[in-house]
Amino acid sequence: MRLRSCCVYGAGVLCILLLIAGIVMALTQVFEKLLNNRIKEQVVLENGTEAFSVWQDPPPPVYMQFYFFNLTNPAEVLDGDKPFVQQIGPYTYREYRPKEEVKFMDNGTRVAAVNPKTYVFEPKMSRGSEDDVVRTVNIPAVTAMEKYKDTFLIARIISDLMKAKGISLFGTFRVGDLLWGYEDPLLQELKRARIVQDDHFGLFYKKNGTDDGNYTFFTGKQKYQDFARIDEWNGQSTLNWWSTEGCNMINGTDGASFHPIIKKTEKLYIFSSDLCRSIYAQFESEVRVQGVPGFRFVPPSEVFANLTINPDNAGFCVPAGNCLGSGLLNVSVCKEGAPIIMSSPHFYQADEKFVQDVFGMNPNKEEHETVIDVNPLTGMLLRGAKRVQVNVYLHQMPEFSQTGKIQTLVFPVMYLNESVVIDEESAQKLYKVVTEANVIVNIPFIVISVGILLGVIFIVFMCRQQRPPSTEAEREPLLSS
Ligand SMILES: *[C@@H]1O[C@H](CO)[C@@H](O)[C@H](O)[C@H]1NC(C)=O
Ligand SMILES: *[C@@H]1O[C@H](CO)[C@@H](O)[C@H](O)[C@H]1NC(C)=O
Ligand SMILES: *[C@@H]1O[C@H](CO)[C@@H](O)[C@H](O)[C@H]1NC(C)=O
Ligand SMILES: *[C@@H]1O[C@H](CO)[C@@H](O)[C@H](O)[C@H]1NC(C)=O
Ligand SMILES: *[C@@H]1O[C@H](CO)[C@@H](O)[C@H](O)[C@H]1NC(C)=O
Ligand SMILES: *[C@@H]1O[C@H](CO)[C@@H](O)[C@H](O)[C@H]1NC(C)=O
Ligand SMILES: *[C@@H]1O[C@H](CO)[C@@H](O)[C@H](O)[C@H]1NC(C)=O
Ligand SMILES: *[C@@H]1O[C@H](CO)[C@@H](O)[C@H](O)[C@H]1NC(C)=O
Repeated sequence: MRLRSCCVYGAGVLCILLLIAGIVMALTQVFEKLLNNRIKEQVVLENGTEAFSVWQDPPPPVYMQFYFFNLTNPAEVLDGDKPFVQQIGPYTYREYRPKEEVKFMDNGTRVAAVNPKTYVFEPKMSRGSEDDVVRTVNIPAVTAMEKYKDTFLIARIISDLMKAKGISLFGTFRVGDLLWGYEDPLLQELKRARIVQDDHFGLFYKKNGTDDGNYTFFTGKQKYQDFARIDEWNGQSTLNWWSTEGCNMINGTDGASFHPIIKKTEKLYIFSSDLCRSIYAQFESEVRVQGVPGFRFVPPSEVFANLTINPDNAGFCVPAGNCLGSGLLNVSVCKEGAPIIMSSPHFYQADEKFVQDVFGMNPNKEEHETVIDVNPLTGMLLRGAKRVQVNVYLHQMPEFSQTGKIQTLVFPVMYLNESVVIDEESAQKLYKVVTEANVIVNIPFIVISVGILLGVIFIVFMCRQQRPPSTEAEREPLLSS
């Protein structure tokens, strides 16, 4: 009897102790703090750490995919009809983007680096080859016309040169040329006349193997939330990108910087030198990438909305007060005057008008939105896809008969999808970390559960003792002897 009641009371006491311990642990969040400290130790850029080597040369493959819009009715468009385009592609490139010229500064709190990108064609992931031909706007010609339309003499020279060389507003181009650069006959003449300096044109001309300027990053040593966050780009603080007037899509690197331990309420700022600004993304849904749990962040439609809906977007209107409507960004200033307008692919989230103006646009969320999936615990990027479209602003210019009776149009030339998915090895490592973390964080609840179980056992035995059945009473002396 004594041994038995000892056990029962022991269970009762243990139950209370476990409950108290569990509740205290749960309330003080001691395991969360431990976990956070461990993560904090790991997310710092220091020579020799794994975080540093991953940052310096990210293991998962990045792919850049280009889709072009092949114009089928150029003559009709010059007569004022709607353009009819057919999407071709993807033309896929593997992108290599190691950080180079890495230099630690300020006692290891910041690190400077450049981020050159190299593109290698991936025929297996492409539909078509770099030798494919696409019919689209002659961008160098339109740029020259736009730039000199108010300079009578030069406008006249350009118009005559175009006629002599049989250059029209639209032309056919090799895909590889249009991307990486070719010698343009009109630019050759203009260079000879010293009107332009470079006779080459390409959307990614001189972008293979070159970097887009100097970056400084925070290492996270001072504040772990700042881990790998971009501080400056070419000597300018990146905090002000919001208000900066449009910029460079074609020469851009982009970096996404994440805080470890991401909350659903957070705004993720994605810096993109393409757009010369950062845009933000907000939580949309919970996802799984290779089994690892993640939060999906997407830019909310307000990011692209017109001034009526989002007055903060006044920066979109360039020059000041000149608004194109939702979803468009005039980046002419940083394209050396080329009338380039950026948007989401197929004018996703832009005014319906732009979709309607071109036959062949088919905007949809899955294919055309920019997404970022991050693991909330570590802030690691699981999947990302940046999707941007390059358009040319076309309108009649009386100085140039080449523009015919064309409607005022935002004409789509191509869009790109720059995407990355975490590699299997990193995903497995991360999966382990997340699983362990789940166990650790749940220790207080496991303790509380055990406490409750003991409590139940204690109560059951106490109840049984209150009404001892005869058989048990007979056996008692045996047990206690
Ligand atoms: C990191 O350490 C190695 C070896 O100690 C050294 O060669 C390298 O220059 C260091 N890198 C940086 C960025 O300081
Ligand atoms: C670097 O650390 C030393 C000593 O800890 C300190 O005297 C110095 O001011 C620090 N320099 C910077 C740029 O923070
Ligand atoms: C870019 O440069 C690399 C190495 O210099 C080369 O292998 C690759 O073919 C180039 N890509 C393009 C698109 O020219
Ligand atoms: C694009 O259109 C042109 C003219 O119709 C055609 O010759 C060319 O083959 C098309 N390109 C592709 C990749 O289909
Ligand atoms: C982008 O390219 C243009 C012309 O090639 C150059 O003038 C400009 O400085 C570049 N911008 C960046 C951010 O590298
Ligand atoms: C802004 O967009 C909304 C909805 O798309 C539209 O109703 C409104 O007229 C637009 N405002 C301007 C100034 O374009
Ligand atoms: C785009 O911006 C440039 C330079 O600021 C300006 O000259 C041009 O008119 C703008 N284009 C449109 C379509 O508003
Ligand atoms: C990139 O986006 C396009 C559509 O925008 C899609 O068809 C393609 O599969 C995507 N590529 C990757 C690697 O996810």
